[in-house]
Formats: sequence, structure tokens, C-alpha cells
Amino acid sequence: MSRIAYVNGRYVPHADAAVHVEDRGYQFGDGVYEVCEVYAGRLVDVSRHLARLNRSLSELAIRQPMSDTALRQIMREVVRRNRVRDGMIYIQVTRGVAKRDHVFPAGDVPPAIVMTARASDPAKAERSAAEGVSVITVPENRWDRVDIKTVGLLPNVLAKQKAKEAGAREAWFVTPDGLVTEGGSTNAWIVTKDGTLVTRPATRGILRGITREVVCEVAAREGIALEERSFSVAEAKAAREAFITAATTLVMPVVRLDGAAIGDGRPGPVTLALRRQFHELAELVAV
Ligand code: PDD
Repeated sequence: MSRIAYVNGRYVPHADAAVHVEDRGYQFGDGVYEVCEVYAGRLVDVSRHLARLNRSLSELAIRQPMSDTALRQIMREVVRRNRVRDGMIYIQVTRGVAKRDHVFPAGDVPPAIVMTARASDPAKAERSAAEGVSVITVPENRWDRVDIKTVGLLPNVLAKQKAKEAGAREAWFVTPDGLVTEGGSTNAWIVTKDGTLVTRPATRGILRGITREVVCEVAAREGIALEERSFSVAEAKAAREAFITAATTLVMPVVRLDGAAIGDGRPGPVTLALRRQFHELAELVAV
């Protein structure tokens, strides 16, 4: 079956889906994005993803391309046309197409919008979760507005490539004082020896992950102690468990950090319980 993409008002074959050479996303990284999970034919946490999309746009003074209702309609349509039951939707909005000039284009340039959907294999993800993944650390070298989900992801790309070359799934950014901020495309968590969940507060040092928010709610429901504070690499290496969260990975156990085993080197019970319970508290909207 051929894939379909939504590009600026039209549904087109994925192979032919293209944006203009002077799209500001392409030339300047002047745009934002969202990734929303599709689970068992439902959109996961679509309300929060659209709220974050709108916040990212407003922080960069990019006009909203259309209403949330219209965006939801296109999301459903893209999922339906691609027959995705489990997978993800990618939404990208840029400041639009204009003659190359760093400053914002004058006049009424409409934002450009692209949406794609892609199926994934839930069984493969479960196999990864049963084994756990490895993480390496890299120096934090991003700008101080990583709370905005911009398509300018070069440090993240380089960090994740380095992880891949080291046989790891993710790279955790670490500040000069040894504190973990987050992963290249995930938030970072540990479970301490006394069973407390620890993750960095969602201030400007990290992206406020939607999966992170839902996991906080699951922890509250289950009576698991949660501390929103920074943790160091040393603390993570001494932790009982560690995991990463994102719409693409859900709750994914981390079993090695820079080559050292975390806990007994196997996915921990708290992590696996949070993974199992995640969709009980996530918002699920039928396509
Ligand atoms: N990444 N931190 C960063 C830097 C991210 O890029 C992401 C998501 C997250 C987790 O956010 P959420 O739980 O809302 O997915 C944290 C997406 C999945 C991506 O870039 O593919």
C-alpha cells in the first residue's frame, strides 16, 4: 500500500511529497514539530500534543496554521489513509516560504504544514523493552530554549548518531556540573535505591515531554514517590533502575549507562509497571 502525506492542504503520495526550496524550515530550521503516538487505532494524548504545538509556535511568533479542530481532522485522515493502527504521526509547521533572509518575512506569509503517519511494530518495541536499552552520555551543547520543540535538532542528531555508533539507543546530555538534562529525543528518569522516581523539572533545560507528564500521573495514582529534581550521572549509575520516555518509545528501560550496568543490568519492576500502565492514563481518541 502506498503511503500518503499531507502537504500544505493536499494529500499526496509520500514519494512525491515535497516542500519549496525556500521553506524556512529547510533553510533556517525555522519551524516546530510534534510526534504523536498512534496506539490500537487511537491518537494518544492529542490534546496535549496540540497544546504544546501551539505553545512552540507562539514562543517563536509563528502563526497557527489552522484551528485545533482542523488539525485533528487532518491527523485522523492521515492515519486512516495510511492505515496506521500502531505507529506515529509527525506534524511540522514552519514560518513558511519566503526569499532567503534571516529576519521574519514581511507581509502575510502563511505558515507551511506537513503531516505524515508511519506504522511501527509493537512486538518489536516490546522485545526492546524486555531487554532494555543502553545509553551513553554527551556534553550538553544545545541552546537554552530546548523547551520549544523546534526542528533545529543538529545537536540531538549528532548525539544520537554517536549513541548508535556506540551500540546504544540514546545519548543523555550532561551539563558541565555532571547533571543529566534529557536524551536526544527522550526524557531521562531514574528510580533510586529507596524506590523514588527522579526526573529533571520541566523548566527550560528540557522539553516538557507529554509521556513524562502522563508517567507523573501514573506514579501519583500508584503512590510512587516522585521527585522533580536534577540527577547526576553518578547517581544514575548507582540507581536501582533507569528509563527514558517519549511518544516513540513510551517507557523504555535503560540497563546500561556508559557501559556500566544499572541495577542488575535488567529492566526493573517499577519501570515495567509504568510501561504497562501508561495507556490507562493517557488520553486515547479514536480515529
Ligand atoms: N521526541 N526530549 C526531547 C529532546 C524530545 O525530542 C522528545 C520527543 C522528548 C519526549 O517528549 P514526548 O514524551 O512528548 O514525546 C523529550 C520526539 C518523539 C522525536 O523527536 O521524535
